[in-house]
Amino acid sequence: MDPNPTDPPRFTGRVSVVGAGRLGRTIARALRAAGVKVSGPTGRDEPVAPADCVLLCVPDAEIPAAAASAARAAPLIGHSSAATALSALAPAEAFGLHPLQTFTGDDGPDRLVGVGCAVAGTSPRALTAAQHMARSLGMEPFTIAERDRAVYHAAASVASNFLVTLEATAERLAAEAGIEADRARGLLAPLVRSTVENWATLGPERALTGPVARGDEATVAAQRVAVRERAPELIELFDVLLARTRALAGVPA
Ligand SMILES: NC(=O)c1ccc[n+]([C@@H]2O[C@H](COP(=O)([O-])OP(=O)(O)OC[C@H]3O[C@@H](n4cnc5c(N)ncnc54)[C@H](OP(=O)(O)O)[C@@H]3O)[C@@H](O)[C@H]2O)c1
Repeated sequence: MDPNPTDPPRFTGRVSVVGAGRLGRTIARALRAAGVKVSGPTGRDEPVAPADCVLLCVPDAEIPAAAASAARAAPLIGHSSAATALSALAPAEAFGLHPLQTFTGDDGPDRLVGVGCAVAGTSPRALTAAQHMARSLGMEPFTIAERDRAVYHAAASVASNFLVTLEATAERLAAEAGIEADRARGLLAPLVRSTVENWATLGPERALTGPVARGDEATVAAQRVAVRERAPELIELFDVLLARTRALAGVPA
C-alpha cells in the first residue's frame, strides 16, 4: 500500500541492531513489524551487517567499543542511551534514540507505540534518521540537547526507578500493619494506577489528595510518629517527601 501523504515521514533504509539484550531484541522485532529492513540484533563478537545505519543497544559503558567495531558497517551510528553523550560515538556521524519506556526483551511492538523518544544528531542527516526511525515505531520524537542529557535522564529515573523505590517503601510500611508483600502489592496497585493516571491527566496539584492536601496536620503528625517508631530507617525519606508534598499543596512547612 502506498503511504498516506499526511503520514509522518518514516525510515526507509536498513538498520543493523547491535546488542541482543532487553532493548535490542524488542526494537529489532518492532522495526521488522513496522516494515523496516533490519539485520540483527547481533551479539558481542558477531559481525555487523552493512546497513544505512547501526543502532547500538548495548550497555552505556560498551558504547565506544561497540561503535568502533561497527564503524565500517554504516555511515551513521546511533546509541539508545539517555545518559551517554554523542561524542562516545566519535568519529562517526552519530545519532541518539532513547525510548522513554522500560523493556524486558519480551515486549511486543506495541510497547513502543505512543512512547516519547529523545533524539539527537551530530548532523541534520543523523537527526532526521533518528526522527524517522522513531516515527516508524509509532513513537513521538523530541530533541534533547547534549547539555540537558543528565537532567533529562534524572527526570526519567525519578519517574520510573524512584517510583518503584517509593512503592517498595509503601510495602515496608504495610508489612508493619501485618500485610505481607504480595497482598500489599495487590491492595496498593489500584491506588497507584489511579494516582498515576490522575497525575498524567490533571497535573500534580489537582492529583494530590490525602492529609497534607487537606491541611489535616493531626493526621500527618500521627503518621510521622508511626513511621519513626515502626520503621525508623524511613523517617528521613518520609520527612523529605512530606516537605515536598507540602510545597506542592501550598501548605506552609
Ligand atoms: N531496557 C530498557 O528498559 C531500556 C530503555 C531505554 C533505553 N535503554 C538503553 O538501551 C541500551 C541497552 O540496555 P538494555 O537494558 O537492553 O541492556 P541489556 O539487557 O543488558 O543488553 C545489552 C546487550 O548488549 C550486549 N553487548 C554488550 N557489549 C556488546 C558489544 N560490544 N557488542 C555487541 N553486543 C554487546 C550484551 O551482551 P552480553 O550479555 O554478552 O554482555 C547484551 O545482550 C542502554 O544504553 C540503555 O540505556 C534501555
